[in-house]
Amino acid sequence: MAEDQQKFRSDTSEAAELYRRYSRLEQGIFVREQSTLTTYSSPVNFIEAMQRPRHRWFPYKEGFSPSFVNDFLPTASSAKGGVVFDPFSGSGTTSIVAGERGLDGLGFDVSPLTNFVATVKATTMNAKELRSFRKHIAEFSGSPLIAVAAQPDNETVKRYFEDDVLNSLLRAKAFFKEIDCSKTAPLFKLAFLTAIEPFSTHRKAGNGVKRKTNYAWPSAHKDSVLALKEFLVKQLEMFASDIEQTTDFRSPIFRQRSCLGEALSDEVEDVSAVLTSPPYANCFDYSKIYMSELWLGDFFASKSDQNDFRQASLRSHVHATWKERYQKAGSPVVDEVIRPYIEGQSLWSPKIGSMLSGYFADLGNLLNNLKPRLRQNARMGFVVGNSFYGGIPVATDLLLADLGRSQGYLVEEVRVYRGVIPSSQQYRKLGDNRKYMRESMVILRRP
Ligand SMILES: C[S@@+](CC[C@H](N)C(=O)[O-])C[C@H]1O[C@@H](n2cnc3c(N)ncnc32)[C@H](O)[C@@H]1O
Repeated sequence: MAEDQQKFRSDTSEAAELYRRYSRLEQGIFVREQSTLTTYSSPVNFIEAMQRPRHRWFPYKEGFSPSFVNDFLPTASSAKGGVVFDPFSGSGTTSIVAGERGLDGLGFDVSPLTNFVATVKATTMNAKELRSFRKHIAEFSGSPLIAVAAQPDNETVKRYFEDDVLNSLLRAKAFFKEIDCSKTAPLFKLAFLTAIEPFSTHRKAGNGVKRKTNYAWPSAHKDSVLALKEFLVKQLEMFASDIEQTTDFRSPIFRQRSCLGEALSDEVEDVSAVLTSPPYANCFDYSKIYMSELWLGDFFASKSDQNDFRQASLRSHVHATWKERYQKAGSPVVDEVIRPYIEGQSLWSPKIGSMLSGYFADLGNLLNNLKPRLRQNARMGFVVGNSFYGGIPVATDLLLADLGRSQGYLVEEVRVYRGVIPSSQQYRKLGDNRKYMRESMVILRRP
């Protein structure tokens, strides 16, 4: 049953108990209201990133605004050689900005796609390598692109392209697969990945893709090979020019790895700052939104790759069934109030209650494992968006701050950036409790 059609339940005693628990949390946590902040409309600003060298190499809508990161990170002199860590690094904005400031950046992400994107964005080249890169761009520009790479083994992805366009993409792919240079080939592949959505008949929309209303590829060329070549050459020349102009860049390290459980211990040491944004608890499935890029980029070759990815990710979605994990460090408010309340309703998925429990248990596990790896006084910023299910707001920011406090962190503040309006009609009935629907940053400090 659609959530909107259900009886409004936020006047129940369970909802009243939830608001009492939120008020109690607010008594011990400083919430800096939106009205006192004039700097950013949102820390997540993809448009700002698209105007900055390196950051503009891949349009990742979930990515941070680079200037937001810049304002949060310590200076090179105050960090004194420590590592800037982003456990959910996505397209790598935190670590790339760290590199621009001469700091050591380290980012983990479970997605092979975003890990690839971030790694390529960290490319540096000497003059000889740049000359070789430009030579490959010229060869590509003049090539008739005769060879064709294999079709992706996924019927849904194939349906997102006109046949002729898919063939052109596979011809460009065959070209760069033959490039025998470990720095140049990934740059070609990244340019290819950026062409996928502009040349597809579908665009990313919400938690999936939608057919474009007026489909046309981004060029005046009638021939799709010429249009694609023009697009790719422009991208590649932009990469070359950014590499040339950002020479005092300290290349960060990116790993395709989960930040949960044992994996964290390997490499994460002497952390002076963390700035991160975990997926919000909103059921988005990154493996669906980025399906075309994941399959055409050969990051997924079978359904089991997709399953492994979903299984390893934070429990922010309902597309996997997890074995019991990290039970110890969850949120009491979620486990005692929110989960039973949500499980008493018939939402579109019966897994939402356990997903929310798991979400906080996973984050609790991360906070617990991170603590000994942080320097004293290290500051951590977690950008989160609160969610809304069955007529009640899930105040992730307060709950995460509480989780941090229970693990011995100091809660500096919850900084509210903007209100978020859920699509559900029930939101209108929230009254004063609408304030909990927001995007904010939870700032924790290791004492
Ligand atoms: C909101 S995005 C981060 C965007 C990033 N701040 C940027 O500027 O590009 C969240 C990322 O968390 C990743 N993720 C989900 N579960 C994870 C896990 N267990 N370990 C590491 N990364 C994970 C997702 O693949 C996604 O790329």
